[in-house]
Amino acid sequence: MLFRELNRGKCKTYLIGSEQEHIAVLVDPLREKVDRYLALLAYHGLRLDAVIDTHTHADHRSATFDLKELTGAKVIMHRKAPAPRVDLHVEDGDKIPLGELEIKVLHTPGHSPDGICLFIGDRVLTGDTLLIRGTGRCDFAGGDAGEQFDAITQKLFALPDETLVFPAHDYRGNTRSTIGEEKRLNPRVTNRTREQYIELMNNLGLPLPDNIQEVLQPNQSAVDDDRLRFPSLGELNQVRQLGAGQVRLLTEASPGPIIVDVREPEEFTGELGHIQGSILMPLKDLTARAEELSAQKERHIIVVCRAGVRSTTAAAILTGLGYEHVSNLKGGMLDWNQQQLPVERD
Ligand SMILES: [Fe+2]
Repeated sequence: MLFRELNRGKCKTYLIGSEQEHIAVLVDPLREKVDRYLALLAYHGLRLDAVIDTHTHADHRSATFDLKELTGAKVIMHRKAPAPRVDLHVEDGDKIPLGELEIKVLHTPGHSPDGICLFIGDRVLTGDTLLIRGTGRCDFAGGDAGEQFDAITQKLFALPDETLVFPAHDYRGNTRSTIGEEKRLNPRVTNRTREQYIELMNNLGLPLPDNIQEVLQPNQSAVDDDRLRFPSLGELNQVRQLGAGQVRLLTEASPGPIIVDVREPEEFTGELGHIQGSILMPLKDLTARAEELSAQKERHIIVVCRAGVRSTTAAAILTGLGYEHVSNLKGGMLDWNQQQLPVERD
């Protein structure tokens, strides 16, 4: 197995390669380093088979979609990842083959709902779930300290003690640890109960990264277009959130709400389907096409996407354009399907 960390900075990108098959995956690549990655793959004679993000990143722009476009590599993320154009959605226990190697997926939510760790041979890539003598923060949207404690103590700490730990970040110049060391020496987790951990994590008082929304929203939507002004955190927080059951009830009334689905066309007709009567208006086209809704400015508009993240952005954009009665389908079509509500696929 070829294994290297490529950035030598605070954000870590790992290359895992099969020496027999001359193929590789990149885990958590940074957008500003795409050229370097491509040069490195070429130098080693490796074909990029897949790009994996361990979660939707809030602190750097991901290179996954650029690398997919440039090399044809498939993008792999957890099923709950909000972004479109993910080629393979994985779940806990899935195995990703890579030549003679096999990467096992552990679903480890907490830092974000779509967090995964990747176990391969003698090592585990722990994303922003478990850091060296630390853990990833849980105070971004969708974070959950209790879930993170469970993921760390029940999934990661169940691995053999000698398993090497490679996190997605390190701020102190460390490069690796082991599960055994973290069990004994991690100041956030060692000797803490679940309740104590939640208390600790919910009171860290860390400032939000300055440009968090400018980074997060393009990563969540795979939209990279200067003409689209992404809403601020304040605007996003004001979006009214409705659960799938509530939206279902509203659609049964007459006249019902207008349902605007902001996913890509292939998602609209894909496995999750769409709500009957919804209008497809992909997020990247929303500002240009919002005019089409202007005759109905008084009506209730409910915005829908895959996980409810892109649609929150869309709802805030519509509100900013003067639509007064806009709501979001919380949890998106993932929740809608989970609750076995009816969908159409064509
Ligand atoms: Fe992160």
